[in-house]
Amino acid sequence: MLYQNSIEGIEPEMLVGFFDGWPTPPSPETHLKLLKNSSTVVLAIDKDTDRVVGFITAVSDGVLSAYIPFLEVLPEYKNRGIGKELVHRMMAELAEIYMIDLCCDDDLVPYYKRFGMIKANGMLLRNYEKQSGI
Ligand SMILES: CC(C)(COP(=O)(O)OP(=O)(O)OC[C@H]1O[C@@H](n2cnc3c(N)ncnc32)[C@H](O)[C@@H]1OP(=O)(O)O)[C@@H](O)C(=O)NCCC(=O)NCCS
Repeated sequence: MLYQNSIEGIEPEMLVGFFDGWPTPPSPETHLKLLKNSSTVVLAIDKDTDRVVGFITAVSDGVLSAYIPFLEVLPEYKNRGIGKELVHRMMAELAEIYMIDLCCDDDLVPYYKRFGMIKANGMLLRNYEKQSGI
């Protein structure tokens, strides 16, 4: 598995299969735009297939705070430690930042606790008609 902290060399065709379970997922082109516009990305790439198989993003003010909106590993690549590696690499990238926040479902609380994160409350608003992105 190859890990990289940029979108260099990434084409939309390499970004197929993400946003699992989303009724109206963003297209691979929109996914690439999302990666490009993020403050920090880490990608896991299967060199055998030249396919991105996992990604994590952060958006940050570069001073005090960062938010991690996305972490996903393709279903067929789960439970091999790829998610863990992506989180570790992102935490290393954000090591100088005071606040690192994310929201997750209850079942993932133990997962993120392993990285030293603590449980807090989150508040959400969703414009479902915009789920494919802009
Ligand atoms: C969460 C996710 C990124 C983990 O990726 P991964 O590469 O499989 O993770 P790792 O191999 O590092 O760790 C696997 C561990 O996470 C646990 N895990 C993964 N998803 C879980 C879930 N939804 N609920 C509880 N545990 C979960 C596995 O049971 C496994 O536990 P173990 O180490 O005790 O065996 C991946 O399951 C995924 O893409 N899920 C869908 C998207 C998602 O929920 N993203 C997080 C948004 S906050």
